[in-house]
Amino acid sequence: MVDDFPAALVTGGGSGIGRATAQRLVRDGWRVVLADLNTANGAAAAAELGAAVRFVRADVAQEPDVEAAVATCVEEFGRIDCVVNNAGVGGAFGRLTDIEVSDWDYTFAVLVRGVFLGIKHGAAAMQVAGRGGSIVNVASIAGFSAGAGPQAYSAAKAAVINLGRVAAAELGPDRIRVNTVCPGLVATPLVAGGAATAAAVMAQAQPWPDLGRPEDIADVIAFLAGPAAPFLTGEDITVDGGLRASGPRVQAAYGGDAAARGFVGVNRGSTGEEPTVRRRP
Ligand SMILES: NC(=O)c1ccc[n+]([C@@H]2O[C@H](COP(=O)([O-])OP(=O)(O)OC[C@H]3O[C@@H](n4cnc5c(N)ncnc54)[C@H](O)[C@@H]3O)[C@@H](O)[C@H]2O)c1
Repeated sequence: MVDDFPAALVTGGGSGIGRATAQRLVRDGWRVVLADLNTANGAAAAAELGAAVRFVRADVAQEPDVEAAVATCVEEFGRIDCVVNNAGVGGAFGRLTDIEVSDWDYTFAVLVRGVFLGIKHGAAAMQVAGRGGSIVNVASIAGFSAGAGPQAYSAAKAAVINLGRVAAAELGPDRIRVNTVCPGLVATPLVAGGAATAAAVMAQAQPWPDLGRPEDIADVIAFLAGPAAPFLTGEDITVDGGLRASGPRVQAAYGGDAAARGFVGVNRGSTGEEPTVRRRP
């Protein structure tokens, strides 16, 4: 049966951002298949979200599991219009000189192979139906630089960001949009130390005064998933309360931002012309 209600597969839908995304999509009229390795959480989330949701146990790193999750969406709801490749773990910790190859490979299998498989099987099903669709990948601000996540995680998220661009270029002619959401720090079970620690850390680093919530990321995923963004593809959107925009804070290392210390005026470099930099009266 094919009807007017769109259907989505959300990986890692048993917790955090994935669960909030499923909830938001259901509120917007979507039917949702939640795929998660954690059966207890996934089944509980599906039960809580009601009749528009199904749960399948799937390991996103395993191709048969992802293929089956996509097939479940088509069998249950008659269609698949969106895949949200969200499942994730912290992965390997430690210095590059200490990380075990098996831990590195596990990290990339979940975070990168998992996204590749969601694109591969989701897009193939969308191509068969011929109606287009959208794919939203969840990366991280850790994918842009060091310093925002463990080493292997950071490298894997960088791969996810560019995989989104590659997929958008390939799938555009089929009207399948592919975009990537890059969250900053969001209060979920994935975050070390819990929400209170995260809030204390972010109070020092993030311009926006509130800690990010899973719903804040879900709102952007829902926008990218549906018809509100028909010409938006190949993009990565940072959702981090201004954390990345606030930059590397080199001025802070010099004793603080000049504006914050009360300086005004202009510095004319090595032109030989007099600077007018002075303390604000
Ligand atoms: N929380 C943050 O601060 C933050 C920041 C940036 C990016 N992210 C990314 O957001 C995504 C969601 O993370 P979250 O914070 O909601 O974490 P979470 O731990 O609350 O949820 C992640 C879910 O993914 C599932 N999962 C893990 N490995 C899986 C696998 N191999 N197959 C299927 N399911 C699997 C888990 O069981 C869990 O339900 C991840 O990709 C994460 O890297 C999170």
